[in-house]
Amino acid sequence: MNTAAAQTLIEVETCSKAFPLPDGKGEFTVLRDVSVKVGRGEVVALLGRSGSGKSTLLRMMAGLIPASSGTIVSNGVPLRGPNPDVGMVFQSFALLPWLTVIENVELGLEARGVARTERTKRALRAIDLVGLDGFESAYPKELSGGMKQRVGFARALVVEPKVLFLDEPFSALDVLTAENLRGEIDDLWNAGTFPAKSILIVTHNIEEAVFLADRVVVLGANPGRVRGEVLIDLPRPHHRGDDRFKLLVEYLYTVMTNPAMDVTAGPSVMVPGAAQRPAPAKVSAYARELPHVRVGTISGLLELIVETGEPTVEIARLSERLALPMDDLLGILDAAALLEFATIAEGDVTITELGRDYATTTILRSKDLFRQQVLAHAPIIATIVNTLGEKANKTMRADFFLDILDEYYPADEAKRQFSTAVEWARYAELFEYDADEELLYIA
Ligand SMILES: Nc1ncnc2c1ncn2[C@@H]1O[C@H](COP(=O)(O)OP(=O)(O)OP(=O)(O)O)[C@@H](O)[C@H]1O
Ligand SMILES: [Mg+2]
Repeated sequence: MNTAAAQTLIEVETCSKAFPLPDGKGEFTVLRDVSVKVGRGEVVALLGRSGSGKSTLLRMMAGLIPASSGTIVSNGVPLRGPNPDVGMVFQSFALLPWLTVIENVELGLEARGVARTERTKRALRAIDLVGLDGFESAYPKELSGGMKQRVGFARALVVEPKVLFLDEPFSALDVLTAENLRGEIDDLWNAGTFPAKSILIVTHNIEEAVFLADRVVVLGANPGRVRGEVLIDLPRPHHRGDDRFKLLVEYLYTVMTNPAMDVTAGPSVMVPGAAQRPAPAKVSAYARELPHVRVGTISGLLELIVETGEPTVEIARLSERLALPMDDLLGILDAAALLEFATIAEGDVTITELGRDYATTTILRSKDLFRQQVLAHAPIIATIVNTLGEKANKTMRADFFLDILDEYYPADEAKRQFSTAVEWARYAELFEYDADEELLYIA
């Protein structure tokens, strides 16, 4: 099935990518020493949480942006500029609204200097392939989301690229439309007549990765790096009902909920208790990141676990019941684990005594518990509280903390850390924020 490693099509060798910080003070490393291979004939998934640099890596491999260091070799040639071996499908369909379906599909061929009659012939074939027969002269605004993305696929495939790059191509579609299109692409691939030799798909959807890929490369965040890879050792097509499929999904849930876990082993050797949350790093309090979730969602999750009557629930099951995007669920789980309301291991979440108490007690007492846990385990908030406490007027400018957070996070993330800290602290009645005056104070 996967003998592709012998025939490498694209190879990324110890590549890093840093962006300059907007204030001109230094740079922000998005990817560090990433090495990835895509072989001929395989489907590879890049799985990672939001911000782990998946899109950045894909754009580097497509030659749309240069690496800061390291080399990328495509089909034996070191990459300089746009990669001629790649066709790309984006999450947002990126169609030109003033062009018809066939004109949108022909664009890529025009750029490659293909003659007009040949262009039309090939575009019609690609449109046929993605099931848009009859819609050649429709405009994008007349199409549903699923149909627009079919145009996206046709436009990428019409050039018969060696590798098809997919950047979360199903995530802007509703669940059923996504499921349908994903299945069709998989069918085309399995039929062996796919107009590309390999597929590289970026996703943060674990089931999607296991369904489509022969190999899943797991990326970690801060900075983005390769944590390891998991071989999807299933015959194609991959069936969701297979025990091995479920085991692989469960294993990847475990991996994704345990940023420090070793991913090299694969699911057959899962050792109970091996997957533990890393000890808080002994770096500055500001570097310990807050998950961006609203306080209410943490209680919501804990209440749902209490309702099941069991202390331990499979995360995959929770994800189904809540119908939450994976990133949102992971954020809530992170927050619950950070505050010691739950522990996470082996793809399961277990509510702690404290968590049960928090979810079932009176509002007043749950606020006290939240405050106590935030002060103990959310160092950004504890540090702000201590700093404010030392001021005679118990007031400080928000800039003071934002400037410090800017040293640790890219600008957007620094703002998000700040607003999450404010939201949690407000709920815990630890401090207040006057957004008009941009002042933090203890009431
Ligand atoms: N041009 C840029 N300038 C500065 N920072 C950037 C740039 N492009 C990406 N970043 C930063 O790099 C980090 C990774 O971004 P990227 O879009 O690659 O992540 P991702 O894994 O694709 O996330 P998502 O799942 O949300 O799409 C983010 O913190 C982002 O803010
Ligand atoms: Mg992305």
